[in-house]
Amino acid sequence: MSTYYNPVQIHYGVATLAKLAEIVQKKGGKKILMLTGARSLKASGHLDKILKQLQCFEVFVQDSIPSNPDVEDILRLKEATDHFPYDLILAVGGGSVIDAAKALAAFRQMNFRNVNEVRAVIKDKIYADSPHICPVLAVPTTAGTGSEVTPWATIWDRQEEQKYSLEAPALFPQSAIVDPVLTQNLSPVLTASSALDALGHALEAYWSKNTNAIVRLYACEALSKIVQNLGLLLENLNDLDLRTEIAYGSLFAGLAFSNTKTTACHSISYPLTLQFGINHGVAVSLTLGAMLAKNEAALREKEKLYAALNIKHPSELTAWIQTIYEQAGLPKRLRDYGVLESDLPKIVEKSYTPGRMDNNPVEVDKSFLLDLLRSIY
Ligand SMILES: [Fe+2]
Repeated sequence: MSTYYNPVQIHYGVATLAKLAEIVQKKGGKKILMLTGARSLKASGHLDKILKQLQCFEVFVQDSIPSNPDVEDILRLKEATDHFPYDLILAVGGGSVIDAAKALAAFRQMNFRNVNEVRAVIKDKIYADSPHICPVLAVPTTAGTGSEVTPWATIWDRQEEQKYSLEAPALFPQSAIVDPVLTQNLSPVLTASSALDALGHALEAYWSKNTNAIVRLYACEALSKIVQNLGLLLENLNDLDLRTEIAYGSLFAGLAFSNTKTTACHSISYPLTLQFGINHGVAVSLTLGAMLAKNEAALREKEKLYAALNIKHPSELTAWIQTIYEQAGLPKRLRDYGVLESDLPKIVEKSYTPGRMDNNPVEVDKSFLLDLLRSIY
């Protein structure tokens, strides 16, 4: 038996953001905590438009949510927002903002004296059955994260060199608003890296041990939208039709991996991001081609996947990703990001996140992984 479940109410399409007040009203929220990270939201005029729409609600705006929030950031956010008795969190931003919103929803009405108490609540999953978790309404401003349709959030711990995942059915956002207009001002680097993250979500969902026919449908649709349109978009950054195709590709990838979790490429990416600051989408995509080759024999309906990717051999995927790096001006090799060859064994040791690496359809042993890292070094 296979099961697919996703309870997020999805509003999507160009200019959907205009329906925000109506959507909030239906959720019954009165006191709204709005999280945002991007100064660009203000510069683009979208922040003013959002606040104007929400005039009849009590809104507290917490901006400057950092990229890749860690446990210290979450503690600071709690301290900065606990005075406001919110009943709904509106997250407008990239994956980091949406993940921070899920963390605040999960920890609502909890009191932390220090960062160790945050760690304990995460590690022991004390939040999972909390009756105080409030609804999250997610409005992505990048096209890649998928966090608007998943029940988990990534929280980092730089001090302990760890990556945690908050996870609970109650952390699915109640609603997502996917408006491609919000992605129009993204730089080439953010456009490429977030879409490559989505490519990883779709591909890893496709081959995951938890895959099923519905997941693969979403994954193939996501992959073909991204492969057909990302290169064109990087040449025409203001083309709203292309932005829309990539936004939907990201959404479908999110729907695919919301039921599978990710696999080896995400697992390998975590130390690359944590220790070397490599952008998440880049860190994931560096190993996608090699892992496609590794997983090839375990793929179900390989021909459908290769048709969606428009390839006949995994090496063509690697070549396509390299072209995207070139178009976006992104470095292609680990050494370009400050990684030393002597760092590779430590990266191998840190690459085995439970629930991710062991969700890969083929076992990835340490000597294979070291060779893989050497090949992209
Ligand atoms: Fe990701």
